[in-house]
Amino acid sequence: MDPKIEMLRRLKEEAKLGGGQDRIDAQHAKGKLTARERLTVLLDEGSFHEFDMLARHRSHKFDLQKTRPLGDGVVTGWGTIHGRTVCVFSQDFTVFGGSLSEVHAEKICKLMDHAMKIGAPVIGLNDSGGARIQEGVVSLGGYADIFLRNTLASGVIPQISVVLGPCAGGAVYSPALTDFIYMVKGTSYMFVTGPEVVKTVTHEEVTFDELGGADTHAEKSGVAHFAMDDEVSTLLHVRKLMSFLPLSNREQPPSRPTNDPFDRVCEKLRHVVPANPNQPYDIKDVIREVVDEADFVEVHAQYATNIVVGFATLDGMPVGIVANQPASLAGVLDIDSSTKGARFVRFCDAFSIPLVVFEDVPGFLPGTDQEWRGIIKHGAKLLYAFCEATVPKMTVITRKAYGGAYDVMNSKHIRADYNIAWPTAEIAVMGAKGAVEILYRKEIKSASDPAQRMQELQDEYNESFANPYEAAERGYVDNVIEPQDTRKELILALRTLRNKVDENPWKKHGNIPL
Ligand code: HXC
Repeated sequence: MDPKIEMLRRLKEEAKLGGGQDRIDAQHAKGKLTARERLTVLLDEGSFHEFDMLARHRSHKFDLQKTRPLGDGVVTGWGTIHGRTVCVFSQDFTVFGGSLSEVHAEKICKLMDHAMKIGAPVIGLNDSGGARIQEGVVSLGGYADIFLRNTLASGVIPQISVVLGPCAGGAVYSPALTDFIYMVKGTSYMFVTGPEVVKTVTHEEVTFDELGGADTHAEKSGVAHFAMDDEVSTLLHVRKLMSFLPLSNREQPPSRPTNDPFDRVCEKLRHVVPANPNQPYDIKDVIREVVDEADFVEVHAQYATNIVVGFATLDGMPVGIVANQPASLAGVLDIDSSTKGARFVRFCDAFSIPLVVFEDVPGFLPGTDQEWRGIIKHGAKLLYAFCEATVPKMTVITRKAYGGAYDVMNSKHIRADYNIAWPTAEIAVMGAKGAVEILYRKEIKSASDPAQRMQELQDEYNESFANPYEAAERGYVDNVIEPQDTRKELILALRTLRNKVDENPWKKHGNIPL
């Protein structure tokens, strides 16, 4: 063989081995795949094209010039998912613990710049000990170069972070700036300061997993959108998520063929809302009954469960679903559910994904805890997000639409396009009990039988307000429909909204309440 070809082949084989077979074995022993194995699961077979396979670090400190592995701890390039181009980087823990050096950062930045030019998502597989300690401030600069690109790319290309190992210190802020974070139970963790520092500063004893494991971030902090059982199911889930997303804000989301008839009668919806307005039901039963093939990919499933968000298709068209969940805290809006909902709405709006809202909300959660922690400003986030969204927006009011929450949850007044109500809808300033107590306090007190008078007044109130007809009279809902027709109604409206044009006034950017 030509010696030059031989040398090239040898270099590439060496690069593929990363930090060497022993470290690959150690990675496997931890139940983790290598950087390259992960890419074979994530991408279509044979589709990966690598950038900078032969890059090496340039550092001479701490004798680093003696160890200059090819690739420098990160594999970057492009490939396809379901035939559509994505850009990927995959940190290689077998090389200096996947730590981020100047060259490692340059490779990621080059990839991100390329993704922005071609309009392709960036999927980052993170498995890194953080800044390469030997390179000092140069490595910190490398992180900042990535943070800037994450920010500039936000809303232009989807960015997905998959955390498959350690992610600590300032390194967490790159995933935090991206649109979706996946974590794997047992093997990944994220924190700004680790258990040792926590112990020194606050005297708290906490394990890695408790402090920053997948369940912690999926349930408590809301940092992670998905907590998965293992690496393979994580990477396959990313492929599934990608099937709903456009490659950039320059294109429409991908439509797909469906065998589910657009006018399918949703039998299950006839009796889904209980007769007793205080009785819960699972809004996910409603969502699955309405969308194509009952296929609903929930985002943030374990966090702020009083609101449900996620992706589905209607008539083959991707939509973002936002739904109050009566089965969790009666579907009330609080700080966490407002921020969860707002972020999802903004993602959908940035990437031309129509919004479908299922509304059953008794209002905002009262109490000092919520007020003192700022439900006013956090609730405003959801309001702001729906107000500024210009994608097709539709709402189905299944039951309660009370108070400020009525306005917030994609009401007609804030530019929703097609709002429908079921006959079970109750559109009012508040529920009957609260309203009657305020309006008739004196009368009830002086009644010969206060309990009976209270009931009579509540019945009167319900008759006047606990229905959708006053709203329908005024055009605040566009139609009152029988629940089983919901799918057909939404799809027919969505078809007409495909070419919707709406704009916000020119501005440098708005000032969403943070
Ligand atoms: C250089 C590193 C490294 C790092 C790990 N290694 N982290 N090399 N810089 N940051 C090397 C180790 O020396 C070791 O090399 C190999 O990677 C594997 O590491 P182990 O410690 O053997 O692995 P493990 O026991 O699994 O522990 C993983 C770990 C630990 C928990 C991540 O390595 C660790 O604590 N690393 C330091 C983490 C850290 O403090 N990073 C800086 C955070 S601050 P050999 O040759 O022995 O195999 C930060 C700031 C970013 O990142 C700021 C952005 C603004």
